[in-house]
Order: sequence, then C-alpha cells, then structure tokens
Amino acid sequence: MELKNVILEKDGKIAIVTINRPNALNALNSETLKELDLVVDNLEKDDEVLAVVLTGAGKAFVAGADITEMKDLNTIEGRNFGILGNKVFRKLETLEKPVIAAVNGFALGGGCEISMACDIRLASVKAKFGQPEVGLGITPGFGGTQRLARHVGMGMAKQLIYTGDIINAEEALRIGLVNKVIEPEKLLDEAKEMAKKISANAPIAVKLCKAAINKGMQCDIDTGISYEAEVFGACFATEDQKEGMTAFVEKRDKCFKNR
Ligand code: HXC
Repeated sequence: MELKNVILEKDGKIAIVTINRPNALNALNSETLKELDLVVDNLEKDDEVLAVVLTGAGKAFVAGADITEMKDLNTIEGRNFGILGNKVFRKLETLEKPVIAAVNGFALGGGCEISMACDIRLASVKAKFGQPEVGLGITPGFGGTQRLARHVGMGMAKQLIYTGDIINAEEALRIGLVNKVIEPEKLLDEAKEMAKKISANAPIAVKLCKAAINKGMQCDIDTGISYEAEVFGACFATEDQKEGMTAFVEKRDKCFKNR
C-alpha cells in the first residue's frame, strides 16, 4: 500500500511517523487511519526500531477525525468509523515499543485521542488540546471518553468533554495531560532525543515495563503486582539482563542486543 497521508522515517533505532494532510490540518479520514494501521504493523515487525515519535505536518498535530467524511454517515457507518479508529489507536497503545507524541499544534477530538494512545506527550507551546465533539452533535469516538479520564481524572475529563473547551499547552501540563511543554523549534529534537535515550536501554525490559504499566492501569493492584513479578522474572531469561548487570559489576559500558 502506497502511503499518501503518513510519512515513516527512520533515524537509527527510532522511527518518526508524521501525519501528513496539512491542508486539512491532518484530519483523520479512513484512508489516513488505514495507512496508520499499516505503519504501526510495520513498526511492530521492525526489529531495528526501538522507539517511535508521532507528530503532525504543518501547524496542526491532528485537528480531529475528518468532519467532511463523517458528515453524512448513518448509524452503522458511524459505528464502523469509530471502530476503525479505535482499532488503530489500541494497536498504537499496545505496540511493543514506546511511542512519544510530539504535539506540534492542534490536538482536537481524534487528535487529542491519538495523543492519549501514545505513552508520552511532549507539547509545543503552540499546542491546543480539546474534545469539541459535543459541539458537532457527537460523542468522542476514538477512545476519548475512556482515556481522558484515565489521564486527568473523571471530573476534569467530564468538564473538558461536556464543555468542549480547548485548552493551551500550559493548562494541559497543569492537569497532567502532557509531560512537558517545549519551544516549537525544539519540540521534534527533544522528542527524538528522548526516543534515543529510551532506545539505548534494554529493549525487552522497556517493552515489559510498557505492558506492566498499561495492564496495571486497568486491573486491581494485586493483579498488577503479580503481573509485575512475572515480567520481572522473565527479564532474567534475557541476555540483556546478564549484560546490563555484568557491565555494571565490571564498570564498563553495556551493549544491549534486544535478546
Ligand atoms: C476536516 C478539517 C478539520 C477536521 C480542519 N479542517 N479541521 N477538515 N475535519 N477535523 C480543514 C478546514 O476545513 C480547512 O479546510 C483547513 O482544514 C484549515 O482549517 P481552518 O479552519 O481554516 O483553520 P483555522 O482557522 O486555523 O482553525 C483551526 C481549527 C478549526 C480551530 C482547528 O479548523 C477547527 O475547529 N477544526 C475542527 C476541529 C474539531 O472540531 N475537531 C473534532 C472533530 S470530531 P479548507 O478546505 O476550508 O481550507 C472528532 C471525532 C473523533 O475528532 C471520533 C470519531 C469517531
């Protein structure tokens, strides 16, 4: 499949995925969602890639799902469109490599939702976040009713979703929606730097941390702790655990092999 609306680039052990429909502020239509689906599948299979940065071309990150495409949908088509986006976002959320959203501008509706499916959100001072769906007569449909409350708590999620208010990056930082606010010209470099730092650590350990944190957010603490014990134990079957600890004891640089 030829990619028209998504750019996939590699820089050493990291990949940079750019949603590229700047004339429509990177609005997510079905075509773009299907391309993203393919790209995420490729990233999962690519052993060279250990961390991913997701960003948008031009002045927006993603200004939402494509309103032009949604306008005339019927019930079944609307449901299917929501299912398509949710399938892709869940795949991104469970990708066995960390994903950093470099939110360069508008992250509205589906744009806020895709950023929330990423592991870490770095925001430009120009970024704007919101779930304006109720102003269009719809609910958030790409996971916003589920993930926003998990990120910022139920009260703040309800406030943002019921009012449709659009907040700036500083407010997003204050409520815990983003990890850091960065000058626009430094955003991508800082996201790449963080991705490179992560990719220098033991990849299997990082992958298992992601799985354990994600699982822990959705189950009781005893189940989560028991899962942590399993993944912790599993690390001792890896060459990288032996390498990491031996290098420490021998006071030398470590060399992880993703094994
Ligand atoms: C389709 C969009 C779009 C969108 C912008 N565009 N957002 N097209 N879907 N979500 C298009 C505009 O129509 C315009 O096209 C071009 O991008 C530039 O946008 P402008 O509005 O001219 O830019 P600006 O004045 O800077 O305003 C920026 C903006 C505004 C505030 C972000 O574009 C806006 O309000 N967009 C919609 C945001 C939104 O409501 N998102 C949630 C969508 S619902 P032309 O051809 O005129 O140049 C959603 C649901 C998810 O996401 C779940 C689905 C299941």
